Amino acid sequence: MAENGFVLWFTGLSGSGKSTLANLLVERFREAGRNVELLDGDEVRQNLTKDLGFSKEDRDTNIRRIAFVARLLARNGVIAITAAISPYREARDRARQENENFVEVFVDCPLEVCAQRDVKGLYAKAIAGEIPNFTGVSDPYEPPLNPEIVVRTGELSTEASVDLILDRLTELGYLAEPVYA
Ligand code: ADX
Repeated sequence: MAENGFVLWFTGLSGSGKSTLANLLVERFREAGRNVELLDGDEVRQNLTKDLGFSKEDRDTNIRRIAFVARLLARNGVIAITAAISPYREARDRARQENENFVEVFVDCPLEVCAQRDVKGLYAKAIAGEIPNFTGVSDPYEPPLNPEIVVRTGELSTEASVDLILDRLTELGYLAEPVYA
């Protein structure tokens, strides 16, 4: 099991910390000699899904494509990390069904905290009505019901969050001790 690929699927609001945690994990896995790839929402949307917007249908297509690529990677021994909002439970569950080794990480951060951080300045615009269908403001976010991992980034430091994820992955049998050390 230790060298098997798996999908580490982050979900959470914009600004909750998905990309930050995913990037730190990429570093940790690389240092441990593991093959790892990150499918980051913003980057994916500039390449693989440039044709899509933010309607439910488009978001579902976005997630379906990400899940497809993640599956190809994971079945070849790669740790495939995805970091898209993926707001719809059904789309995430479909991704789970397609992937044998699937770990859902709910980056649980209150909307107020994300909006206060407003890293990209998008919440201010969304609240002012300048961006329609903005997740958490004028579009739904459906939290996972049974995620393998929950990280409360409003309460934990990034380092503690990364450690928590690595701990849980080890418990779940996805990582051998050296990755963790
Ligand atoms: S998803 O819903 O399809 O999973 P994804 O993670 O790819 O979303 O893209 C979200 C990013 O797109 C946000 O972090 C933000 O930078 C940007 N964005 C632009 N418009 C919206 C919107 N209406 N809702 C959410 N995010 C948006």
